[in-house]
Amino acid sequence: MSTGQKPTFRIVVLISGSGSNLQSLIDACHNNQIKAQITAVISNKPSVKGLDRATAANIPTLVIDHRDFSSRQKFDQHLLEAIQNFSPDLVILAGFMRILTSDFVSQFEGKLLNIHPSLLPAYQGLDTHQRAIDAGDSKAGTTVHFVTPELDGGPPVLQAEVAISPTDGPQDLAARVLTMEHKIYPAAAQWFCDGRLTSQNGKAFLDGVVIGKNGILFDINNEH
Ligand code: GRF
Repeated sequence: MSTGQKPTFRIVVLISGSGSNLQSLIDACHNNQIKAQITAVISNKPSVKGLDRATAANIPTLVIDHRDFSSRQKFDQHLLEAIQNFSPDLVILAGFMRILTSDFVSQFEGKLLNIHPSLLPAYQGLDTHQRAIDAGDSKAGTTVHFVTPELDGGPPVLQAEVAISPTDGPQDLAARVLTMEHKIYPAAAQWFCDGRLTSQNGKAFLDGVVIGKNGILFDINNEH
């Protein structure tokens, strides 16, 4: 920022792996597309690349290894307290590969976002690209959505499509989808941090207008 002051809006990002989406969010904060600071990156896995990305950006990191806890509830409780220590305005799941309990989710209702590599509501859960190929779909994609207790079932916000070609394997599709994720996640986070994106009673709203069941379709020629 030109004043040298850090924005006051605070984001905590949860990861489990490579953190390429985290990187797109870090970059968007640095170039002031998102007017917020990422105050912590928390991983449930040690030694993942996403932690290195955070450290390189001078963001505090924390590893909370789910294998150190005897139950999902205990892990989630610990995670919840760790996140609350950073007083976030927004919590972003960026390749965080743990199912969260409804107790956890309800604590962050309306300020918890996830990105899922399918055109929700199609293909909730795992192996989304293989399932789209097996079904003979002509397109695949990715969706940013608010998180509710139902896995990958919260209200969609923003969606990007990619074409499936007959020679595509799941890895090809994953790579193509990921490049779109790096565009739509910062865009959705920006809306949230600017106060334009909200969620209430299982619905998402942009500028007070309800968003439809597939989310807003991302237009690469008009990047919102
Ligand atoms: C992305 O494909 C995302 O949709 C899914 O996990 C992957 C994370 O990739 N939830 P990365 O760790 O951000 O590179």
